[in-house]
Amino acid sequence: MIPGEAPREDVLHASEDLKKEAHISSFENFKELYVKSVESPDEFWGDVAKDFFWKTKHTGLFLDYNFDVTKGKIFVKCMEGATTNICYNLLDRNVYERQLGDRVAFYWEGNEPGDEKTVTYRELLEQVCKFSNVLKSQGVKKGDRVSIYMPMVIELVVAMLACARIGAVHSIVFAGFSAESLCERIIDSQCSLLITADGFYRGDKLISLKVIADEALQKCQDKSVVVGRCIMLKHLSKEEEEASSRPGSLSPPAKRSCPGLQQEKQAERVRKGRPVPKVPWDPEVDVCWHTLMENASAECEPVWCESEDPLFILYTSGSTGKPKGVLHTISGYMLYTATTFKLVFDYHPDDVYWCTADIGWITGHSYITYGPLANGATSVLFEGLPTYPDVSRMWQIVDKYKVSKFYTAPTAIRLLMKYGTEPVHKCKRSSLKVLGTVGEPINPEAWQWYYSVVGEKRCPIVDTFWQTETTLPFFGVVPAILNESSEELEGPSEGYLVFKQPWPGVMRTIYGNHERFETTYFKKFPGYYVTGDGCRRDKDGYYWITGRIDDMLNVSGHLLSTAEVESALVEHEAVAEAAVVGTPHPVKGESLYCFVTLTDGINYTAALEAQLRRQVREKIGAIATPDYIQNAPGLPKTRSGKIMRRVLRKIASNERDLGDVSTLADSAVIEQLFENRRCTAM
Ligand code: WTA
Repeated sequence: MIPGEAPREDVLHASEDLKKEAHISSFENFKELYVKSVESPDEFWGDVAKDFFWKTKHTGLFLDYNFDVTKGKIFVKCMEGATTNICYNLLDRNVYERQLGDRVAFYWEGNEPGDEKTVTYRELLEQVCKFSNVLKSQGVKKGDRVSIYMPMVIELVVAMLACARIGAVHSIVFAGFSAESLCERIIDSQCSLLITADGFYRGDKLISLKVIADEALQKCQDKSVVVGRCIMLKHLSKEEEEASSRPGSLSPPAKRSCPGLQQEKQAERVRKGRPVPKVPWDPEVDVCWHTLMENASAECEPVWCESEDPLFILYTSGSTGKPKGVLHTISGYMLYTATTFKLVFDYHPDDVYWCTADIGWITGHSYITYGPLANGATSVLFEGLPTYPDVSRMWQIVDKYKVSKFYTAPTAIRLLMKYGTEPVHKCKRSSLKVLGTVGEPINPEAWQWYYSVVGEKRCPIVDTFWQTETTLPFFGVVPAILNESSEELEGPSEGYLVFKQPWPGVMRTIYGNHERFETTYFKKFPGYYVTGDGCRRDKDGYYWITGRIDDMLNVSGHLLSTAEVESALVEHEAVAEAAVVGTPHPVKGESLYCFVTLTDGINYTAALEAQLRRQVREKIGAIATPDYIQNAPGLPKTRSGKIMRRVLRKIASNERDLGDVSTLADSAVIEQLFENRRCTAM
């Protein structure tokens, strides 16, 4: 609070009990540490680094960087000269130095209630060592890229940490993405190996992952990119039933039952009419996870890596439509995720922590795998859906594992709000201490519901602003708000959210395209990292993210670019032109509203609309399925031919006040577009 101002009535305070045990117990304490983190980063992060194992110590500055394109190449280097291994720090250090071998690393909760598994730090280390040896046996070496396309299972964590152990670079592709998207990401990152699973259930729906993965590899091949190996985990299938759907091919060489599922469960699934998928199998390419693991040694010396060696690539949407392979490096990311996890969630050793994000997103990378494991924490890893088998599922899981720190997305909260308080009240939730939200701006109604109904006004809510590209504004992070003329605004203001200096966990480059990295984040306002978000600072100095101000959409917390959806639409021969905008949606935050202009002579029919919808799903994935498609014989354009998206946004949300349209070439199209509006529910 600003000194001398009257206290705000809408400010809520954490309980004395929580404050007593908190790592950062007061606002004063926070401010002191914050100043230290930005003024003496060497000292601040040096203290953090003491908890970790370094094979060799760093020399020189803790952070060295250039954030100003006018002065040369943009770079960030953290702890140059140090060598370490992040997997060693997450597992070996916890098992051997900290004696946490018997501590549960993950409680895995499957899609079906009753499907569960527990893995301790010792067991995780053993599996990771074995799988590291498997990777080596498949020819994977330090620096090689490995593509991972898996459901939310413990083996996904095993696969990523095994890559990290041998210095390979993982590129995890969210299992909701299509074959086309997977193919594009495999090609861009030049992966030599793909790791996948037979399939999984999302609620009632079977996702035949191996079939999609094979399609992706075929598409790669069509583009002359050959990925020679695919390791498949049997998550759903048990030993006998893999009959191939490809004529003449063989089943996986399975001699043992799949550890993912006991026989009775399997039988039950078949009774419920939920068969396991038929798995296509090509013995030239495919290898079985379980067979390889059986023969692998549990001893694997970590590969000692440089601080700035790559750790992973994670793709995020880019405004040109081509996804960007965001690259993170080892030491800075390790310290940053470990510290944000510990301090934002106020982690203590008796906590049970649950982040509901998918590991395929940056939140999952940082707050299911790296941050919690670096702290020796116990987490829940959930495969299923918040609404399956019923809308109490989340709270049942909270009670079952006595979750104390719970982290989810506004879209999930809005979804559950629709069902009222009863499904929440059915469960006790007495273990909850801190709640978190991430991924998109949270609207006040959702915040209030989360706070009052879920947390019963006991639990503070931490909101972490997060990007695949950056991490949350935290110790070491210096935000500013700029206006269009790149002037820093003071006091209460609204404008572009930028960062003035790097922090250890900031992205380092776009894989294979450093120039795009500089253009996207540093060109608009030289000297600053530009997030692409709008932001408002209130009179107390709090930052409120107002949402994207570039051509990006945030649908259920997933960032999409209008350009990538448009290009998926125009690939259809019936479509001459497409323009996609976001329109407010009560649950998803934003929904996709697509305007399409058809090729001359083609009629707009329901069948065509269904085809277009399917086409976008196939090109990108289900998250990008258009909510509305409107036939638009004409689009509002300027005289120079630029589509006026601002006007389309208004049409999509049925706002008649269009503002200044004097640059419009043909104003007659506007009335026609309003008449043909598709979305009536606004
Ligand atoms: C948005 C998602 C408001 C923001 C985890 C950012 C948020 C984009 C918040 C990154 C938040 C994320 N409040 N907006 N707490 N967290 N965003 O890379 O627009 O998929 O730029 O990572 O999500 O999306 P990404």
